[in-house]
Amino acid sequence: MKRSSVYDCSMLELDKHHQERGNITVVENGYTIPFDVKRVYYLYDIPGGESRGGHAHKELHQLIVAVSGSFNVMLDDGNVRRTFTLNRPYQGLLVVPGIWRTLDDFSSGSVCLVLASMLYSETDYIRKYDQFLKYKNEI
Ligand code: TYD
Repeated sequence: MKRSSVYDCSMLELDKHHQERGNITVVENGYTIPFDVKRVYYLYDIPGGESRGGHAHKELHQLIVAVSGSFNVMLDDGNVRRTFTLNRPYQGLLVVPGIWRTLDDFSSGSVCLVLASMLYSETDYIRKYDQFLKYKNEI
């Protein structure tokens, strides 16, 4: 996905079941999101002022959810940057491959849930920004 753009990424409204006893939000493979979930991980206990991410993926699709608290996700396709504030557990940011992302401004106690389309693979990461720009400019 060398040619992907930040406009291929979007905020999805997730299924929300409101009850007096509390809320439930559901994500289902092939229905809510356009990929099958192979891996789930979550970031928590993030110290104030810390940032995460700072890399891109070659093939991985992700859905990022602020299941608690809030944080910002900055997306960069090498040309355009877009920043999203995530602060609702019933919204998810869909991030396609080939996008540099940085997460910051985590509120105290926030939890960042990530649903991912592939198992963990270090070879799928691009961790240097200059290599990312080179990758995006290759034909
Ligand atoms: P990384 O994705 O670089 O963190 P972030 O983008 O949140 O800053 O992951 C940090 C480390 O955690 C990485 O070096 C290896 C480990 N890790 C796994 O072992 N499996 C995983 O699925 C993830 C996401 C990370």
